[in-house]
Amino acid sequence: MSYMSEVQRSRLIATNHQGEDMKRFKFLFTLASVLIIASMVLGACTTAPQEPVDSEQPPAGEELAVGIVLPTKDEPRWIQDETRFKDALTQQGYSVEILFSQGDPAREKQNVETLISKGIKVLIICPHDGTAAAAAAEAARDAGVKVVSYDRLILDTDAVDYYVTFDSVAVGEAQAQYLVDNASGTGLPLYLYAGASSDNNAFLFFEGAWNVLQPKIADGTFVIKNSAEAVALQDKATLTRDEMGRILGQVTTNWDFNVAKGLAEANLTAAAAEDKGEVFILAPNDGTARAIADAFAADTDVTKYYVTGQDAEKASVQYIIDGLQSMTVLKDVRTLVADAIAAAVAFLDGRTPEETATYNNNVIDVPAKPSAVVTVTQDNVKATVIDSGYYPASDFTGLE
Ligand code: BGC
Repeated sequence: MSYMSEVQRSRLIATNHQGEDMKRFKFLFTLASVLIIASMVLGACTTAPQEPVDSEQPPAGEELAVGIVLPTKDEPRWIQDETRFKDALTQQGYSVEILFSQGDPAREKQNVETLISKGIKVLIICPHDGTAAAAAAEAARDAGVKVVSYDRLILDTDAVDYYVTFDSVAVGEAQAQYLVDNASGTGLPLYLYAGASSDNNAFLFFEGAWNVLQPKIADGTFVIKNSAEAVALQDKATLTRDEMGRILGQVTTNWDFNVAKGLAEANLTAAAAEDKGEVFILAPNDGTARAIADAFAADTDVTKYYVTGQDAEKASVQYIIDGLQSMTVLKDVRTLVADAIAAAVAFLDGRTPEETATYNNNVIDVPAKPSAVVTVTQDNVKATVIDSGYYPASDFTGLE
């Protein structure tokens, strides 16, 4: 085993603070420290560190084994991931470079090339656009770097070695189940919103939601108010990707709060007063849920609204406490980060990460490990989000 790979492994393993891994870390840390000092004495460390594009500078003289690329700093969800990665990887004094693509596939590819040039062996990447990211994944593959697709699947290439994710179909099912559980009577107005069509997850969320909502649309419980395409397909229990694409074309938020707000306002303007009253809203994530909720709250013909979300963003946890958002889906980012790190360590060790499922990306079945999700409402917000240690109570007001 080479000197540098021991150092790289120690830097990763250092961040796993439990049991065997901790012992292993201490051993490897000691070994790595000895090797670093020895290499400095021998004048072995000659490579000058390059400037990172975007994030924290790793300690001078240390080469990165793992690089992380996240889609944007503009959504709290990905700041959560950055924070959890840093918590996991830097607590013991180790750094990993985290670059953000700011919704731009060209910048994403440049970030990947920057990390490759710094000698990473594993790339953990959440693509902005699943298809456009194939080129970045292939550049990494060509450089001998293992590619871990993080949260969102990279599509249309075989250059993906592993996928860590939440069970995104289950996310959509949890959102829809909440709406169904709160529905009584028939003819209830239903407003559908979705994520960005460039994100494979948006289809999985919608598929999950449709699984649960469609029978309740078919039996007359709900009436879709804002998508003629969805109405045209409402008797179909299962939709093709193309059919979902047609609906998304009408109800996409593009994962953008402003688009979400504008679309909700346009839908409300187009709707008659009898299409309002008590309404049910499938909103795909927390940022868009707050924007859509604000639009519905401002409409005087809306007497009550139920609105879904996901990510347990702090602002939405507060909205739930305040009764402004009905639910969110907690996707414990600590689990995803731990799974991504475990996969990276496995690859650095020459092992294969644990596979519990596969996801087809149009070219291959990518080995994957999906994680469970938790429905959060006003009734269990304290237990699920605070008592679980996810966020401190002091971040919120109005909690008992
Ligand atoms: C993620 C969600 C996130 C959304 C918008 C999805 O791919 O799974 O957690 O809210 O992207 O960034």
